Parts: sequence; structure tokens; C-alpha cells
Amino acid sequence: MISDKVKNVLNEQINKEFYSAYLYLAMSAYFYDEGLYGFANWTKVQAREEVDHGMIIFDYIIDRDATVELKPINVPDIDYKSPLMAFEKILEHERYVTSLIESIANLSMDECDLATRNFINWYLREQVEEEKNASDIITKLKLFGDDKAALYLMNKELAKREYHKHEY
Ligand code: FEO
Repeated sequence: MISDKVKNVLNEQINKEFYSAYLYLAMSAYFYDEGLYGFANWTKVQAREEVDHGMIIFDYIIDRDATVELKPINVPDIDYKSPLMAFEKILEHERYVTSLIESIANLSMDECDLATRNFINWYLREQVEEEKNASDIITKLKLFGDDKAALYLMNKELAKREYHKHEY
């Protein structure tokens, strides 16, 4: 069994992961509109990974004999003026998600819930990668964003990303 406090933050995190999926999907739609299909592909693949993140927590709550409580998903703000703005928004969001995951880690320690503390380690590692991915793309966009040829090559590179089910 998990405590009500832990159950509540995990349910909240399911919502945040599905919101992340919505955010990436909104960005994917923006990139399709802009004709940047590689960027659109990259963010769409990420949206699917975010759904996996939510589903893994869903299964964990069930495994701990607790109740999943789904909440409404907010509509993301889609006011981006450039690929750089969109990826800066992604990095800001991923840093926020990292802070939420850290809060779950801290709460699970306060509640002496070592199973949840162990479970959440995977997410802590995942957040390092997610922040790095966004940060690397921002670095390239800052270096080459004004150069159409470089943007074309970057777009081509991001088109190669494939979805693989995110296993825990
Ligand atoms: Fe599931 Fe991008 O954090």
C-alpha cells in the first residue's frame, strides 16, 4: 500500500505526463504548419514517449493496490514565434517536470516509502536525458537558426527519430 499523500502526487504526475504529451503534440502541429516536418516528427515521437511515462505511473499505482484518479488536461499555450522559442518552452517545461519528480522522491522518503523512492529513480534519470535533448537542440538553433541551410540539415536529422515504446 502507498500513503494517500504519495498516491495523490503520483496521480498528479500522470496528469503532468499527459499534459507533456499534449504540449509536444501542440508543438508538432506548429512545426507541421511551418513545413518543418523533421521537427514535427521529433516532437510527435516525444509526445508518444510522454504517454508511456504516464502509463508507467498508472500501472505502478495499480500494482500498489491504490486508485488511479484521472484529472482534466490543460490546453497548452501554442504562441511560438520560432523553433528556438518552442524549444526554450520545452526546456522550461522539462525543468519544471524535473522539479516535480524530485518532489515525489523527497515525499517518498518522508513517507518511508522506499519502493516509490526506487520507482522514481527511473524518472530522475529520464529527466536528465530530456533536459539534455532540449538543451542540445537549443544550442544548435542558437548557433545555426538564422542559416536556412543549417536549419534544413537539422530538420533532416530530427526526421530520423523513431518511436520505441518506453519500457520501465
Ligand atoms: Fe515525461 Fe518529458 O517528462
